[in-house]
Amino acid sequence: MDNDDLDVIKKYYEEISKIYDDAIYTNIPEEMVEEQAVLKNIVDFIELRDPILDLGCGTGHWTKIFSKRGYSVVGIDISPEMLEIAKKEGLENLILSDIRQVPFKDNSFGTVTSFWTLQHMLTLNDLKSALNEMYRLVKKDGTIIIGDNVYNIDGVVLNEKHLDVDEWVGEWGLKPLQVYRRITNPQEIANISKENGFRVVEQKEKNNAFYQVIKRI
Ligand SMILES: C[S@@+](CC[C@H](N)C(=O)[O-])C[C@H]1O[C@@H](n2cnc3c(N)ncnc32)[C@H](O)[C@@H]1O
Repeated sequence: MDNDDLDVIKKYYEEISKIYDDAIYTNIPEEMVEEQAVLKNIVDFIELRDPILDLGCGTGHWTKIFSKRGYSVVGIDISPEMLEIAKKEGLENLILSDIRQVPFKDNSFGTVTSFWTLQHMLTLNDLKSALNEMYRLVKKDGTIIIGDNVYNIDGVVLNEKHLDVDEWVGEWGLKPLQVYRRITNPQEIANISKENGFRVVEQKEKNNAFYQVIKRI
């Protein structure tokens, strides 16, 4: 993706940061409650190892869950406004960076997570870059956990870059917002993982969401 595409994504999160926690985590439809419960169940029961890296941490909803449990967590995001909210929530180790190029050494983290961020990897190469960073950064016996959507807000499965216009933010007093997404899918990630010596050891799907737990072969 080029810098103009990234600017569209950053602008979207600058705006949506104002309503993000309310719209995504507080006053939400039953379908989203069910989706989030499945991820909560995964992170509750899987063995997490320290330290944890949360890629595309946003306002820090999941980062905070890990931090409260006593893990040492680093959150990375491209949006200063989303990170500002995470900071106000009390999170400390927050870094403004692109998940395709993360400023840490190989094998630095026991767990690497990325929730609802891979949808913004706009080409297959972008997706591979982000996944390669996860494979590089996770320790030998560590775990990667991914969560994302299987179709976009209009129910479209489009495995190429497309411009979505999110009208639903109108319910929250915002003007419709444009953002680029490319919907990946569990099979694509499983294939890339296999090519890189990793495998999906657990996979769950619920409504519009899929989750994968990935380990080194
Ligand atoms: C839908 S939000 C998810 C936030 C959080 N993980 C959650 O589950 O609530 C997607 C996040 O990905 C971030 N993001 C998008 N593209 C990125 C990139 N190339 N590098 C880092 N962060 C990115 C956005 O700024 C946004 O905070």
